[in-house]
Amino acid sequence: MSDQLFLGGYVLFPSGHYAGAWRHPYSSRDWLGRGFIHEVARTLEAAKFDLAFIPETVSYRAGFVQHGLSNAIKHDPAQVAAQIAAVTTHLGIGVTLSTSFNEPYNLARTLASLDHLSGGRVAWNVIQSQGPANYANFPRAEQLSGPELYDRGDEFVEAVVALWKSWDADALVQDQETGVFADPSLISAPNYDGKYVSVAGPLNLPPTPQGHPVIIQAGDSPRGREFGARWGDVIFAIERTPADLRAKKDDLKAKARAQGRDADKIRLFAAVQPIIGETTSIARARRDFLHTRITPAAGVEFFSQFARIDFTGLAHDVSYRSAIEGHPWNRAITQLNELLGSRIGNISISEAAIEFSTSELTPQIVGTGVEVAEQLAEIFGSGAADGFLITPTHFPGSFEDFGRAVVPHLQRLGVYRKDYEGTTLRSHLGIA
Ligand SMILES: Cc1cc2nc3c(=O)[nH]c(=O)nc-3n(C[C@H](O)[C@H](O)[C@H](O)COP(=O)(O)O)c2cc1C
Repeated sequence: MSDQLFLGGYVLFPSGHYAGAWRHPYSSRDWLGRGFIHEVARTLEAAKFDLAFIPETVSYRAGFVQHGLSNAIKHDPAQVAAQIAAVTTHLGIGVTLSTSFNEPYNLARTLASLDHLSGGRVAWNVIQSQGPANYANFPRAEQLSGPELYDRGDEFVEAVVALWKSWDADALVQDQETGVFADPSLISAPNYDGKYVSVAGPLNLPPTPQGHPVIIQAGDSPRGREFGARWGDVIFAIERTPADLRAKKDDLKAKARAQGRDADKIRLFAAVQPIIGETTSIARARRDFLHTRITPAAGVEFFSQFARIDFTGLAHDVSYRSAIEGHPWNRAITQLNELLGSRIGNISISEAAIEFSTSELTPQIVGTGVEVAEQLAEIFGSGAADGFLITPTHFPGSFEDFGRAVVPHLQRLGVYRKDYEGTTLRSHLGIA
């Protein structure tokens, strides 16, 4: 375990874990132009973050678009990454790309290009897409689910890594005297031929500054965790309590050891939503304010998606308890019930949905900069997480506040570095 914690910024706009982010009075409205991306990137780098993380989706849900919920509009993550790379020099860049809707070749090349062009700062967040809404635009993609989806994912990542390694480190000769640009005897085609995935190769790019991009994973099912333990350099987790985080981290690291990996090199980032105020009471008032920017219709739409129950036809004052009665309770519902505690009996479906939609059950860390830093340092010190994925309530102000009010105290507590020590993402993460 490192004695320094790691920080990532969750760059999901116009809203992410907080469903009202685009309606926050301090949020940007220029979600489409590069100026906004540049501002977010510079803010994260000024605060010495290890990486900016860019999620992905290709599904359309009318209610999400209407209410500006997560991924209501979605730039191509690789294009956003290229913009971030162009205006920063140290910030790592996590790019989410699906194994379901890409071929290993184009995905390997996109990420290898970004890793070259950024000087070795790129990570791939590997996702396996599920559900008909995702597949609607990819009629030739085979719709798999459960463990088989991850079996295909294993093959896909094997093929991508083989492509990344298809050039030896010294294959690029560039000898102007002899006229040899590259040595084909040092380049080999993987000729990967699996059950689900095939690609000949080699790639048309030499190894990247990091050898190859860092791999991020966030699977949570037992098979998803096996997959993360096999491939992940970084694991993202959303857990409500430090005890749950600790259990997940221990499980992942045990699974990684069973696969012969050095588990101490795997970095578990816990998603948290800091709400920072000049005083504790201002921070609490800010947390309460977040509720007011989510309409009942938006909250119910958002919660329905996660609960996998359509509550959108119900009157907003129907009791929450009766709304969930008779339905199977998935993780979103059982965790919301835990959070609501004794309030569960006298809360309406819309109030419960809004509560869920303030953070998607990502833990809220509320207080002054000092208090937030102390809480994060405590979670880190307990061994529950190696780092934190900071999810914003408004853009880009949440990251500015965190950089100004929290980072200096993390540094004072000795758990965060004062400056970047290397230039690649692997060097920031201590996995060079
Ligand atoms: C912090 C975090 C970020 C994630 N980002 C994405 C994403 O951008 N796109 C996506 O389709 N899934 C994303 N996921 C979902 C995971 O990839 C995964 O599907 C989910 O955790 C369920 O895991 P399972 O498929 O093993 O049950 C994310 C999960 C977490 C915890």
